[in-house]
Amino acid sequence: MSTRPSEPPTVHPEIWPVARAPAPDPAVEARVDALLARMTLEEKVGQVIQAELQSVTPEDVRAYNLGSVLNGGGSAPGGDVRAAPEAWLALADAFWEASTDTSDGGVGVPAIWGTDAVHGHNAAFGATIFPHNIGLGAAGDPALVRRIGEVVAREASATGHDWTFSPTVAVPRDDRWGRTYEGFSEDPALVAALAGPYVEGLQGAIGADQLGDGHVVATAKHFLGDGGTTGGRDQGDTEVSEEELRDIHGAGYVAAIEAGVQTVMASYSTWWGRKLHGHDELLTDVLKGRMGFDGFVVGDWNGHGQVAGCASDDCPAALNAGIDMFMVPQDWRSLYDNTLEQARTGVIAPERLDDAVRRILRVKARAGVLHAPRPSERPLAGRAELLGAPSHRDLAREAVRRSLVLLKNNDRLLPLSPRQRVLVAGPAAHDLARQTGGWTLTWQGDTNTNEDFPGGTSIFEGIRTAVEAAGGRAVLSVDGTYVERPDVAVVVYGETPYAEFQGDRSTLAFSPGDRSHIALLERLRADGVPVVSVFISGRPLWANPEINASDAFVAAWLPGTEGAGVADVLFTAADGSTAYDFTGTLSFSWPRTAAQSPLNAGDPDYDPLFPLGYGLTYGDDGDVPRLSEDPGVDLAAADARTVYLAAGAPVRPWRLTLAEGPGGGVAVGEDEEETRTANGWLSAARDGGGEGAVALAWSGAGPAVAALSAFQAVDLSREANGAMALVARARLDSPPPGGMTMTMAGPGGRGSVEVGGQLAAAAAGEWIELRVRLSCFAAHGADVASINGPLSLTTSDAVRLALAEVRLAEGLASDACPQ
Ligand code: BGC
Ligand code: BGC
Repeated sequence: MSTRPSEPPTVHPEIWPVARAPAPDPAVEARVDALLARMTLEEKVGQVIQAELQSVTPEDVRAYNLGSVLNGGGSAPGGDVRAAPEAWLALADAFWEASTDTSDGGVGVPAIWGTDAVHGHNAAFGATIFPHNIGLGAAGDPALVRRIGEVVAREASATGHDWTFSPTVAVPRDDRWGRTYEGFSEDPALVAALAGPYVEGLQGAIGADQLGDGHVVATAKHFLGDGGTTGGRDQGDTEVSEEELRDIHGAGYVAAIEAGVQTVMASYSTWWGRKLHGHDELLTDVLKGRMGFDGFVVGDWNGHGQVAGCASDDCPAALNAGIDMFMVPQDWRSLYDNTLEQARTGVIAPERLDDAVRRILRVKARAGVLHAPRPSERPLAGRAELLGAPSHRDLAREAVRRSLVLLKNNDRLLPLSPRQRVLVAGPAAHDLARQTGGWTLTWQGDTNTNEDFPGGTSIFEGIRTAVEAAGGRAVLSVDGTYVERPDVAVVVYGETPYAEFQGDRSTLAFSPGDRSHIALLERLRADGVPVVSVFISGRPLWANPEINASDAFVAAWLPGTEGAGVADVLFTAADGSTAYDFTGTLSFSWPRTAAQSPLNAGDPDYDPLFPLGYGLTYGDDGDVPRLSEDPGVDLAAADARTVYLAAGAPVRPWRLTLAEGPGGGVAVGEDEEETRTANGWLSAARDGGGEGAVALAWSGAGPAVAALSAFQAVDLSREANGAMALVARARLDSPPPGGMTMTMAGPGGRGSVEVGGQLAAAAAGEWIELRVRLSCFAAHGADVASINGPLSLTTSDAVRLALAEVRLAEGLASDACPQ
């Protein structure tokens, strides 16, 4: 980190590299100019606006001549993430027809439809899901990512999409960032090496009939410095010198532009406090001027609204700074009105608006959008068999094999013979949601189940197939119990899905509060069973206790739907010969302590546990001596921002208290058998149900409240903006109460919502989720920017309720907000 300058530094475009961008095509330029000359001001303003599927209709696109539509994370036709390709295609046609309607005398520029196809066409049900970019970085092969880009483009073409917001060319430098896995590497050279081929795979050759032959427009994102924020904070501040911004964070853009990338997405982050969405020197002077990028810059989701003086529906500053298309999911209508007014009054200069529109038209012309037939008439449209096609899945399986990194292999336990009794254990062994991670069907990816992935293969299923084919036996036992002692155990565990800021961590500790994985590994080893850990994660994490408790340890990242790629490498062929050796190497440095972030090759005192580029093969001596289990940080303090109660116990610093009426109350002790309020109106005890829960019992004699609280408040406004919900996993053990309120509170106010109805809908004895959106608490009076009482439950009725977990999670469309 450089020392903070007194004001945001100025930019020196002349020190930035000139990218050898593909030369403009005179025919395209002439066509664009001719089109532009015929457009009204209203049509031009419409072009620079991109609205979101759930908030815009084809009629709107027709009336306002909108330039683009996107489906955000978790958004799909009719709100159905399992929508069939025909449903996507029907909408694509409807938008296209509306945009090309010239009956009002307009020019009818086709709208383009963008999606986050960031690891496969992940918005589409049944698609092939590839390893997230961190895994592709570990595979480190430009030819592989080019082939993946081609396949992603083909699957996206089947649903009528024209454009993907990928690849992410961030260079994540502090792995506490929740988007680390979206980046290929901490090493700018590797990011640059993969960015170009990925773009070429997605887009095909520039100037060719891209949409006609199953390609899509690509996006390099997020410009610039998204991976360099201090503390790894999402949407944070990147406090580095201009040289570091250029050499580290800029590396992928030069490569992507040279490969012909047609769009660049601006970053939410700031550089020394100045928002990129309003940074004219970086967007205009550097990216478009010096680097020679002649495509268009799209903003990020309401990113313009964060520029000083702006709102989501009002931001001439962003356009003036060089954003060419606003990503304005909901507020597009008033942004349109405001932008039109600003264009009329000269707040936005005509030349700037023309330049933005010209860039958008140029991209549409080059991609073939201007002359392509309606989406459903394009060659790959509606070909449902392309989604998850066998050859695509084979490629994804190959990518999985090549992304695995072997970190430890004591006594050369690996490769395993498939001709033995194999126990497959751990919470991620048979869990496609965990394998695929965030940005999969839903935004955070945390509500998916195996049924959401038809045609996908869990890691367990892959192992079972390989082992049984060779005459061995594989048994799935998530909790690791067994009747017959296995010869070896493969234990699969790691992070649960997250995206963006939900994945931000305060330290690199893998599992600060939960030692269950270690207990499982140790139990197996105590019984003489050798243990292979397959670790699922979106980043390197401090997991020394788990590594110590394993004989072999494999970093598997977020492999996607083709879990069989894991068995391909772990097991020999039936005859004992090695089918596939490990070839993956770390594209991020692996920390020695949980405090080591940032940690990057080239740091002056670089001291990782496993350095960048590390990765064992079967030929290596893979012995790792016992590692220190001193995390180097206070584990109790970690990650309490969004998880308040886990396995029935409050996550420190949160406390669980019981009270009668407001104020006072008793804290639920960790070791006490039962805690009761003074009059016995409420008690708490350990739940015997096995899941790890606290059993709350209200007597019905008077009002009583069970509350999670802490001294210091946390700011949940970003989470509220991102439509997150407070979720309590609960089991009702009595008839439903007449009423129960769920409250979120802080010094600035409290919001109470009735959840009696949610409880009444649950069957007795069944685990359910009580869910209330943060925005709903806010609407009822809570100040989400300052919350020190994330949850309290109040009732005067007799009710018994077991509570296992209280945390924030992605909001669902079904989360209602009762009055
Ligand atoms: C993310 C982008 C993404 C966009 C659209 C934003 O929140 O930062 O990476 O492309 O949403 O889903
Ligand atoms: C959308 C994402 C977007 C995020 C921004 C989500 O609801 O699905 O695409 O990035 O909101 O907060």
